[in-house]
Amino acid sequence: MTAAYPALRLRRTRATAWSRALHREIVLSPADLIWPLFVTEGADNSSIVEEPIASLPGVSRWCVKGIAQRAKEAVALGIPCLALFPNTARDQRDDRATEALNPDNLMCRATKAIRDAVGSDIGILTDVALDPYTSHGQDGVLDAAGYVANDETAGILVAQSLNQANAGADIIAPSDMMDGRVGLIRAALEQGGHTNVQIMSYAAKYASAFYGPFRDAVGSGGLLKGDKKTYQMDPANGEEALREVALDLAEGADSVMVKPGLPYLDIVVRVKQRFEVPVFAYQVSGEYAMIEAAAAAGAGDRDALVLETLTSFKRAGCSGVLTYHAAHAARLLGA
Ligand code: PBG
Repeated sequence: MTAAYPALRLRRTRATAWSRALHREIVLSPADLIWPLFVTEGADNSSIVEEPIASLPGVSRWCVKGIAQRAKEAVALGIPCLALFPNTARDQRDDRATEALNPDNLMCRATKAIRDAVGSDIGILTDVALDPYTSHGQDGVLDAAGYVANDETAGILVAQSLNQANAGADIIAPSDMMDGRVGLIRAALEQGGHTNVQIMSYAAKYASAFYGPFRDAVGSGGLLKGDKKTYQMDPANGEEALREVALDLAEGADSVMVKPGLPYLDIVVRVKQRFEVPVFAYQVSGEYAMIEAAAAAGAGDRDALVLETLTSFKRAGCSGVLTYHAAHAARLLGA
């Protein structure tokens, strides 16, 4: 007896490897990756300093010289952009984040070292926020009541952005979530002659439990009291993310970021569909640690987990992904 099987069988195009390759909608490549790197002070003798980060197995802080080496590695792997984060020495942190404005701070030195090592073969994204420089671990300065003061902080962020642009940053990435800072930074960059310096705003950044290992990496975790809920978004909110993105675009952001990544892919899709602009996602430290822990526990194949999650970001509509797996993924992709 002949069953009423459908004329169209979707398994037909999946039956062979060549056919799967032919019908593949998304092709992940090293060019989709932004590699976040942590910078730390070097030794006086000219050896390379590498400090492994316990909560981010496989990720280290590097001294400026080590960062230049990573830049060469990234260029060889076809990774188009690096994101820099400093582990500022304890005694250089204060309640006003003074070190963020030092033209010779770790970020500026790392930026220049990358430029010396690889010229303009790679983009340098610098994070704008005060948490790696404050003695209290918050992203801005505090008022008398301990509230992160928006407008005063924004003024410092503008100066921080100019400091980074003057050192040679290509993309200024404000991750602080202060209101109005993108417009102020854009105006200052134009006035300062940095017309081609881009702004990638962390437009929809959530107050997430997935940032723990990052705070260890930049040394702010132990300093932070309380949380960041008065400026980072409530994980329950989607509409508000669209409002944040609309404002940052109106203020001059060239591209926008959603952060964290995997738990917020619905936000990526909504932003992409609504605004049709370049959208990036940050697969953050806790997501990286989760994949590494799963693989170490035998709950999944590490390489497959890495490539599947990164592919999912592209499928959702991302132009690129910030991921600590960038170098490993680029190697897997056969660069
Ligand atoms: C700082 C900043 C954070 C991250 C990127 N920039 C931490 C925070 O907001 O507390 C998190 C990145 C990660 O977890 O990988 N403003």
